[in-house]
Amino acid sequence: MRSILVINPKGGCGKSTIATNLAAYYASEGYETALADYDPQASSLAWLAERPASYNPITGIQAFETGLRALPRNTEYLIIDAPARSYGRELTELVKRAETIIVPVLPSPIDMKAAATFIEELMNVHKVAEKKAKVALVANRVRDNTLIFEELDEYLTKLRVPYVTALREAQNYIRAYQRGLGVHELPPYLAWPDWEQWDPLLEWLDSKRSRPS
Ligand SMILES: Nc1ncnc2c1ncn2[C@@H]1O[C@H](COP(=O)(O)OP(=O)(O)OP(=O)(O)O)[C@@H](O)[C@H]1O
Ligand SMILES: [Mg+2]
Repeated sequence: MRSILVINPKGGCGKSTIATNLAAYYASEGYETALADYDPQASSLAWLAERPASYNPITGIQAFETGLRALPRNTEYLIIDAPARSYGRELTELVKRAETIIVPVLPSPIDMKAAATFIEELMNVHKVAEKKAKVALVANRVRDNTLIFEELDEYLTKLRVPYVTALREAQNYIRAYQRGLGVHELPPYLAWPDWEQWDPLLEWLDSKRSRPS
């Protein structure tokens, strides 16, 4: 089973958006997919409740209440949506459940600075330090492609955290969320620019680079 955690203590950076889109993508590819929501706000589970029965199913797990006890044994992809403000012991507990970690970051100096601090904490979590869990960064809600992540990029390169893709700000994410779908399940004429931006992330997730070594 592949387990992918989407985490960043900063609120509103796109954890639930990326988690639900990943779950929808793997489900649409025919994999047995589970979505574990560790956030009592339960945005991911609310999204799942809207998912039409005609689309490939995703198992929702109320992880904030009962952990992963209800996880089906035949799960091929487990996507974990973390709550905001997960530090310290909570962070360590979440990382225990994942082999791959995605950190979404908004393109603002405040968010980038906070992300750098968080990545440092994350890299010190024993499992990550031992390379038993791999981390990548995803820029989210990027409004144009002239935004420069140089400073963060340089910092991350030092920490050897790859920055795999930038996702644009798009109505497609709002539309897809409302309908219980992912952008990969929207029609190509609407969503192809988003598919292109997801490709590097999906490729990374499919490669050995995102798995424990
Ligand atoms: N790429 C995007 N384009 C447009 N809107 C987006 C995008 N990513 C996220 N949003 C919107 O930004 C808001 C916050 O996103 P989301 O809920 O995914 O963040 P979060 O990190 O899960 O927040 P929280 O910390 O509260 O759990 C939502 O309204 C979501 O629809
Ligand atoms: Mg969320």
